[in-house]
Amino acid sequence: MSVAGDTKGKTLPARAYTSPEVYEAEMREVFLKSWNFACHVSDVAEPGKFWTTTIAGEPIAVLRDKDGQLRALSNVCRHRAARILDGQGSCPKVLRCPYHGWTYRQDGQLAAVPEARGFEHLDRESVRLPAFRVGELSGMVFVCMSEETEPLDTYFGDLAEKLAPLRLAELGAGPRIANGYDHNWKVITDNYLEGYHIPVGHPGLLRLLDYKRYVATPAKNHTWIDGPFRNKPSRNYQERLYQKLLRPMKDFPEDLLGAWTYVHLWPATFIDIYPDQIDTWQLFPDGLRRTRTEARVYHSGSGAIRDRLVRAINWRVNTKVMAEDVELCDMVQLGLESRTYERGVLNRNENGVLAFHDLLRQAVPGIDEP
Ligand code: FES
Ligand SMILES: [Fe+2]
Repeated sequence: MSVAGDTKGKTLPARAYTSPEVYEAEMREVFLKSWNFACHVSDVAEPGKFWTTTIAGEPIAVLRDKDGQLRALSNVCRHRAARILDGQGSCPKVLRCPYHGWTYRQDGQLAAVPEARGFEHLDRESVRLPAFRVGELSGMVFVCMSEETEPLDTYFGDLAEKLAPLRLAELGAGPRIANGYDHNWKVITDNYLEGYHIPVGHPGLLRLLDYKRYVATPAKNHTWIDGPFRNKPSRNYQERLYQKLLRPMKDFPEDLLGAWTYVHLWPATFIDIYPDQIDTWQLFPDGLRRTRTEARVYHSGSGAIRDRLVRAINWRVNTKVMAEDVELCDMVQLGLESRTYERGVLNRNENGVLAFHDLLRQAVPGIDEP
């Protein structure tokens, strides 16, 4: 795909963040056509276990059926459209709608209907929940609602090889941590994808990470960001304690020991890889300038006080970083809505943003028009 000369090294136009048409096109062309992260493999490990999520607002249930096969079904009842399964849990035999009690087999076929004889026009055989493509990659479960998209195995290029040493599947997964922000989903993604703002925006991160060696490497449908540690002790007590007490999780890969590593999976999932814990962070666009998020934490389960303390300090430091990022995104969201701003130009250190925008340019025709 060729990008017009005058947009070379430039961001998407402001309109891409403020136009309802672009938003609709993104839902259709990006989210409905990509492999979206759903859950950790442990969430659907045993027959009957399910996890619910959404893709572009579409309610989806992922479950392990009684034969061990992974399935992704529409989570919308065919009777009067109620949500069938809630949150996560187990549906050992059938999926039961909480509204009028219709039940579905684990393959989506309608099973039983209360007061069935009262329906004059119900053809039971033809009622089933739509099924979607579902697969596992490196301990993560992904769902794709399009038949045309390439297989999950190749979709993220060499990501599986890069993640393999982390043995994500063997780590314990924490509960969902839900949040929401008044930002277009791309404002948050852009911000995650570059370290150019660290020296000004994140004093704490600047004390911990060697900014000069903070490098984003775009690859197929993902970007890998290395944030190596500084050798110098931080002058902040909390950060210094983290530096001093940090010991990696069991079997944590050696080449990632001295760094915080960030991964963006197209379109809107992030993996933060810390030696002491890993988390996933997923964006759910919920309107042009609203984004819901869900985070999960994974670690090897060490209950030692030292490891718990390290994880807690990490979480505190990164909660601060997050608060700083929210302020930055607040400003950007408003600025993008200004009448005078058209589009920006990107630094070499913003190559992750450029790669993301180029993916959007490919996926959404017309997104680059000012
Ligand atoms: S809406 Fe599900 S049973 Fe009526
Ligand atoms: Fe940031």
